[in-house]
This record gives sequence, structure tokens and C-alpha cells, in this order.
Amino acid sequence: MQMTVLAISLVLMAALAAAFLGAVRASGSGEASEGAEGRRSLLILVMILVGVVVTVASLRPWPHVAQAGEVAGPVVNVSGGQWYWEIDGEQVPQGVPVTFLAHTTDVTHGFGVMDPEGRILFQVQVMPGYVNRVAFTFDRPGTYRVVCLEYCGVAHHDMITEFTVGGEA
Ligand code: CUA
Repeated sequence: MQMTVLAISLVLMAALAAAFLGAVRASGSGEASEGAEGRRSLLILVMILVGVVVTVASLRPWPHVAQAGEVAGPVVNVSGGQWYWEIDGEQVPQGVPVTFLAHTTDVTHGFGVMDPEGRILFQVQVMPGYVNRVAFTFDRPGTYRVVCLEYCGVAHHDMITEFTVGGEA
């Protein structure tokens, strides 16, 4: 999927660039002064180079966790409902990919996990009729906070719980 989007994007960008180059050529056939012509060509060349560099740099692989295949390693079941989170296993291992299987008992919620400093690490939608899966490797011990990132009713802001990573071992 990602390679298809990348290929389509590159083809469309090449077509757009060709159209612009054509327009530039056509407009350059007047009697503008040699200096202005040269500066304009240089400016366009610089813009093209900047565009290519920015495009290539921004087309790195999407930061989606690989979802396909069998679940390997520890599994944590997550249940969301109005308005609580239930997590089986308050102690989550450190240094190995942990797979969260999340489902809802009512409406759609957003299972979001924040690190001990309160920065969001990952989130997955929790939708009726599905068990949504997300894997994450925690590289630091600590207390991680679970929040809801999808408005789900009056006490949406109260859907908070915690779990601990590492610790003993
Ligand atoms: Cu659950 Cu917002």
C-alpha cells in the first residue's frame, strides 16, 4: 500500500513538474534581459532541488506499527467503556514488543498511552465489533498513563488509568 501511494505521488509530482517546466520554457521565450532570465532559471532550479529533498525526506516509512501476522510475545487485553479502562496485567514487561488487544463494551473510544512525562506514545481506535491491535516496545520502566483520545460522552475526560512497565524482573 505504501509503495503504491509513493509511486502515485512520484508520478503526479513528475507530471506537475513537467507542466511547470513547460510553462517556464514558454514564458521564457520573450525578450527578457539575459540577467533576469538567468536568475529566474537558477531560482527555479533551486526550488526544484529543495522540493525534491523535502519530498524524499518526508516520504520515510509511515510510523505505523506492523499489524499483520500472528501475535508474538506478551499480550495485554484492554477493555474500554463509558467511562473506564480495564487492563489485564498491571505489570507490563520492558524491552519486548507488547501487543495490546483493545475492544469496547459500548461506543468508540481512543486508547492512548502516555509515557511517565506525559508524552503520547501511541494510540489506537477502539471500535464496537472489533478487537483492535497495537504493539509497542517500552524501553523504560515507569508508570504509564492510559487516556481516551476519542470524545465518548460527558465523562470522556475521566477515562484514565495507569499501568507499570518493568520494575521487578
Ligand atoms: Cu472514551 Cu473518550
